[in-house]
Amino acid sequence: MPRIANLYFKTAIIFLILGISIGLHMSISGNHAATGAHAHANLLGWVTMAIFGGYHALNPQKAARRLASIQYAVYTFGVAVLIPSLYLLLSGNAAMEPIVAVSSLIAFAGVLLFAVIIFSNSEAAVTTATSPAR
Ligand code: HEM
Repeated sequence: MPRIANLYFKTAIIFLILGISIGLHMSISGNHAATGAHAHANLLGWVTMAIFGGYHALNPQKAARRLASIQYAVYTFGVAVLIPSLYLLLSGNAAMEPIVAVSSLIAFAGVLLFAVIIFSNSEAAVTTATSPAR
């Protein structure tokens, strides 16, 4: 499996553990205020990252590109800041709002970068990855 696909699955399972932990905490406490943080940890974290990793596993030429690493860094940073700040915002810490806003935009930028990867030509990626150094 390409390195970036493996990295995405490792990151995804961490977000599933976090998302389910928030869900169990809400269930046990009876306080569902953090539903948004739980849902986004599971969907932006576990589900979306697993799909990104699966795409890279099926497209090893694209996974070897520098853009794949940049996209991983941007998206993962955005989601990793968004989930705890959203959790704190929904728990009553209004000061988190600008951090939630900025991290949401960073996560969205990561999604746009993934769109560039999807629409890019995989044959061009092969050429770039295998052409001899000049
Ligand atoms: C043991 C695992 C889980 C537990 C204990 C759990 C618990 C909860 C609880 C207590 C709520 C709040 C419900 C409400 O206030 O109406 C909720 C909402 C939600 N959960 Fe989970 N959850 C789990 C796993 C998951 C997973 C794996 C996903 C997605 C992949 C997920 C997605 C959602 C979504 C989208 C909502 C919002 C639903 C809505 O607002 O209508 N949950 N969950």
